[in-house]
Amino acid sequence: MSGAFITFEGIEGSGKTTQAKLLKGYLESKGLEVVLTREPGGTELSERIRQLLADPSLPIRPEAELMLFMASRAQHVRELIRPALERGATVICDRFADSSAAYQGYGRGIDLELISALNEFATGGLKPDLTILLDLDPEEGLRRARRGRGDLDRIELEELEFHRRVREGYLEMARREPDRFVVIRADVDIDSVHRRVREAVERCLGM
Ligand code: TMP
Repeated sequence: MSGAFITFEGIEGSGKTTQAKLLKGYLESKGLEVVLTREPGGTELSERIRQLLADPSLPIRPEAELMLFMASRAQHVRELIRPALERGATVICDRFADSSAAYQGYGRGIDLELISALNEFATGGLKPDLTILLDLDPEEGLRRARRGRGDLDRIELEELEFHRRVREGYLEMARREPDRFVVIRADVDIDSVHRRVREAVERCLGM
């Protein structure tokens, strides 16, 4: 496998999607083939699972929710991510396995070791080369998310305390794996965040 695998993580409203797009444009301007994808999503099955997960009118138990994210991931890795990496493309993914640990583990309280084992199975052991964590106070994140769309999906509707646990969970994971994670403050303007993202990626790719 030759391409680099870069993931973006962070709470709602942290600007992952914007930053992932900016990074794609930058790397393409350097002549790289870039595949930008997201979780849950990226394949037909995974996008359909995404619709189920986002529907606030559909009751989903935490255990079922976890397995839906995992099913989406298992398909995504095999159908899209691995083939792209194998042909040498750089893959940028807006959320990946760490989101399940942050939201279903730290957020909902499901056992972290179980989530880690399920992630191992779903990803077939694939790990990002670099994970960019965009760190933001959840109050600001939720304000931004509401401003952006007006409506909130099922997980965004969780109480503030839930999003606080998610944020702390991410920071804890970053402390445990300092070689993979780069934490970037997201409470500054888009261009400043992009500059820091670029620096982290250039270091990782040896550019
Ligand atoms: P997005 O709004 O950033 O695209 O993410 C979709 C929602 O799914 C977001 O609320 C985070 C949540 N999520 C999980 O709870 N677990 C996961 O494993 C993933 C990938 C996303």
